[in-house]
Amino acid sequence: MHVPDADVLSPLTLDGHFTFHDAPAMARDFGNRCSLLPAAVLHPGSVSDIAAAVGHVFSLGERSPLTVAARGHGHSLMCQSQAAGGIVVKMESLRGDRLQVVHGGGVPPFVDAPGGELWINVLHETLKYGLAPKSWTDYLHLTVGGTLSNAGVSGQAFRHGPQVSNVNQLEIVTGRGDVVTCSPEENADLFYAALGGLGQFGIITRARIALEPAPKMVRWIRVLYSDFASFTEDQEMLIMAEKTFDYIEGFVIINRTGILNNWRTSFKPQDPVQASRFQSDGRVLYCLELTKKFNGDDVDTMEQEVTALLSRLGYIRSTMFHTDVTYLEFLDRVHTSEVKLRAQGLWEVPHPWLNLLIPRSSIQIFAKEVFGKILKDSNNGPILLYPVNKSKWDNRTSVVIPDEEIFYLVGFLSSAPSLSGHGSVAHAMNLNNQIVEFCEEADIGMKQYLAAYTTQQQWKAHFGARWETFERRKHTYDPLAILAPGQRIFPKASLPLSL
Ligand SMILES: Cc1cc2nc3c(=O)[nH]c(=O)nc-3n(C[C@H](O)[C@H](O)[C@H](O)COP(=O)(O)OP(=O)(O)OC[C@H]3O[C@@H](n4cnc5c(N)ncnc54)[C@H](O)[C@@H]3O)c2cc1C
Ligand SMILES: *[C@@H]1O[C@H](CO)[C@@H](O)[C@H](O)[C@H]1NC(C)=O
Ligand SMILES: *[C@@H]1O[C@H](CO)[C@@H](O)[C@H](O)[C@H]1NC(C)=O
Ligand SMILES: *[C@@H]1O[C@H](CO)[C@@H](O)[C@H](O)[C@H]1NC(C)=O
Repeated sequence: MHVPDADVLSPLTLDGHFTFHDAPAMARDFGNRCSLLPAAVLHPGSVSDIAAAVGHVFSLGERSPLTVAARGHGHSLMCQSQAAGGIVVKMESLRGDRLQVVHGGGVPPFVDAPGGELWINVLHETLKYGLAPKSWTDYLHLTVGGTLSNAGVSGQAFRHGPQVSNVNQLEIVTGRGDVVTCSPEENADLFYAALGGLGQFGIITRARIALEPAPKMVRWIRVLYSDFASFTEDQEMLIMAEKTFDYIEGFVIINRTGILNNWRTSFKPQDPVQASRFQSDGRVLYCLELTKKFNGDDVDTMEQEVTALLSRLGYIRSTMFHTDVTYLEFLDRVHTSEVKLRAQGLWEVPHPWLNLLIPRSSIQIFAKEVFGKILKDSNNGPILLYPVNKSKWDNRTSVVIPDEEIFYLVGFLSSAPSLSGHGSVAHAMNLNNQIVEFCEEADIGMKQYLAAYTTQQQWKAHFGARWETFERRKHTYDPLAILAPGQRIFPKASLPLSL
């Protein structure tokens, strides 16, 4: 096989190694909708391998077309962790032995985790000490560096902020090949740049993540609404309350019959007789999903608190379901679905996902249009919808959010298993486009999360007033635009000359 870049890369002495045979595997991602073949794959044996590789590409200058993409678990949706003709760094090769939990000694506990470590492994390790990170994503088979490059949002974000708000320090290989330790105190500009930075400023090789005591168990509760306004009113009341649940999310169920039967295997209805009589009658339903932690000896206290909180809510009384599970089972819940979907061949299918951040002031008209008009059939995957408070999002990071105190995360997590019709990519994309067009026409101040824009013009509009900062940081930390080319923000070698 002719390997053009073997010569270019041969001056490097590494702890790890380059491979070429697995390049096609690096041209795939969870989205399953685009594919860019890299020239080589770096399996780093050390942080210095990554620094050497990036530094080498930097030294080739702007005429070299080589780029470098860090690949976490490849769970991007549209090629974000791919590099056409470039080098993909398989970050997972760097994980494992460097997970280190530090507790006691008068400092709040933390874990130092390699950038390519999966969150599920971080959890397993910290649980050995009775500790766990505070803020999560719904799915844990994602990497530390990958989610921190986006934001990392789930049902704990209303209290703790997104994952990027729960990091104390990072180690980063910049686009010049320098290894830099940064934190709010040291190299703060790079620290905040990298958080939510879409991989544009450096490769996160280590993150120091804040921990808290982990509960043993959680009560996991689902209640249903047919009225969107009372659903969101209750969500907002709960995220604002002083004493509240530990996890607050919600999802939309469009025209799906038998939803309660689906849960029955794992969720117990409070009132089985009433619950069995409940009919959705083709209505759109809204499910509020909550958890409350407990350890075992404190069940009574937990139940009293739960009862008091639930009594303030306006859900349909016959639709209260709950189950008690270990903290690990709860946090790793999506993996359980993954195993089932894989068995049916429904995991490695295209995922035309759309994730939006919608300001609170527009969520009612958004729902009226989207759930009342645009989406008619049953959904091809979960539709998440829950509010968070902006005060928990540090505005010095690169994360882009709407300009309002409360905004909703709305995720249309569609699968497209078929080539045509209801389950196709074309069908899902058509609906996604209608939703985005509505937001743009109604000018509701929506921002996309995990956006896949393809032109710098679109990215400028996305960043708005923050574009200048983003561009300045790019010029400082990755002036040749070597890193994460799959985000399609800065084409290599065409940065403006005067900044
Ligand atoms: C089933 C599922 C559920 C999800 N649930 C949530 C959720 O609840 N909340 C949420 O916020 N997100 C969620 N996500 C999205 C997730 O945050 C993204 O997929 C993200 O890209 C992380 O995936 P990854 O670790 O595989 O990173 P990749 O997709 O491999 O990389 C993502 C981007 O970051 C760059 N990158 C990767 N590693 C590094 C690094 N160490 N340093 C710098 N840049 C790097 C890549 O080049 C790429 O541009 C979910 C995704 C899936 C598939
Ligand atoms: C958002 O958080 C801030 C700061 O904690 C708080 O003052 C405010 O009341 C919160 N807003 C809502 C609507 O919950
Ligand atoms: C639910 O499905 C029925 C029949 O399939 C359809 O007529 C109706 O418009 C749907 N309702 C909503 C709210 O989408
Ligand atoms: C960030 O928030 C602080 C405090 O709320 C505010 O003073 C500052 O102007 C904000 N900065 C930016 C860049 O928005």
